[in-house]
Amino acid sequence: MLENDPELIEELKALDVVLTRRQSSSPSLPTRPSSCTMASFPGIGGPMIELDHICKTMPSGERQLQILDDVCLSIPRGQFACIVGPSGSGKSTLLGLMAGIDHPTGGNITVDGQRYGELSEDDLSSFRGRSIGIVFQSFHLIPTLTALENVTVPLELLGRPQPAAKAEELLARVGLFERKGHYPIQLSGGEQQRVAVARAFAIAPVILLADEPTGNLDTKNGEHVMSLLEELHDDFGTTLIVVTHERYLAQRAQRVVTLVDGRIASDEVTATDAGDPSSPSIEAAPPEPESRKS
Ligand SMILES: Nc1ncnc2c1ncn2[C@@H]1O[C@H](COP(=O)(O)OP(=O)(O)O)[C@@H](O)[C@H]1O
Ligand SMILES: [Mg+2]
Repeated sequence: MLENDPELIEELKALDVVLTRRQSSSPSLPTRPSSCTMASFPGIGGPMIELDHICKTMPSGERQLQILDDVCLSIPRGQFACIVGPSGSGKSTLLGLMAGIDHPTGGNITVDGQRYGELSEDDLSSFRGRSIGIVFQSFHLIPTLTALENVTVPLELLGRPQPAAKAEELLARVGLFERKGHYPIQLSGGEQQRVAVARAFAIAPVILLADEPTGNLDTKNGEHVMSLLEELHDDFGTTLIVVTHERYLAQRAQRVVTLVDGRIASDEVTATDAGDPSSPSIEAAPPEPESRKS
């Protein structure tokens, strides 16, 4: 499908621009000493994601804007963690760094044993394609492809066998088998996000990163998408990191990391994590009114 379709190749290039638009050219730099500690969550597995004294600065006029300031975080294999925090606190930047889409200006990132700073841009991109699924707030489906073709693309890029059959299986998992021939414009927001979830899980990634996946959905569709992420996380054993500003959704995770002004303000195991009944719980906010578009 890919090699004979120049328009599709252009679409994919455009999508890659979206994915890499925040990329800076700076490789990882030496770490600086700090008092921040690695929170330990025993009993789940070894680390999947390790952020070691991560800093991110961006030029802003004459001065440097500090977006992330000495962030240390160790996420065990298979954990479901939510990242919360006010707008502008650095959540999306942090997710972009975990995906290797963006680079830190200080510190080291190790994902599934791969130290990002030691990989070339091509190797990093190939590692991401094999290992990381990403879900965005605004879906990022390719508009000229059907739901089925959108889910098939990452499988074809990896040369996986029977990509269409695998994609159909995933679409069935998210309840959209009947809509497989529909284009994104023919689907509701909730349905488009479910296609995006199917696409992200199609390659059976070791990590799934979701940036405000319910942000453009009403409460009902948001709950549905979150449930699918949880189910697939359980089935695939994927490490799941979800950025959300919905506290009541974050409460469903095993762990909630709160960012404020580019620093980790709190890192809590929730009551959801059955491994530790004495774990502190966080407050649940009521669901939002059904005023937002789906
Ligand atoms: N490419 C960029 N250039 C300059 N500033 C940026 C860039 N990306 C993000 N920022 C700034 O970094 C801060 C954190 O952004 P972001 O990670 O998107 O926050 P959040 O996702 O928590 O809302 C914000 O102040 C934002 O304006
Ligand atoms: Mg954001």
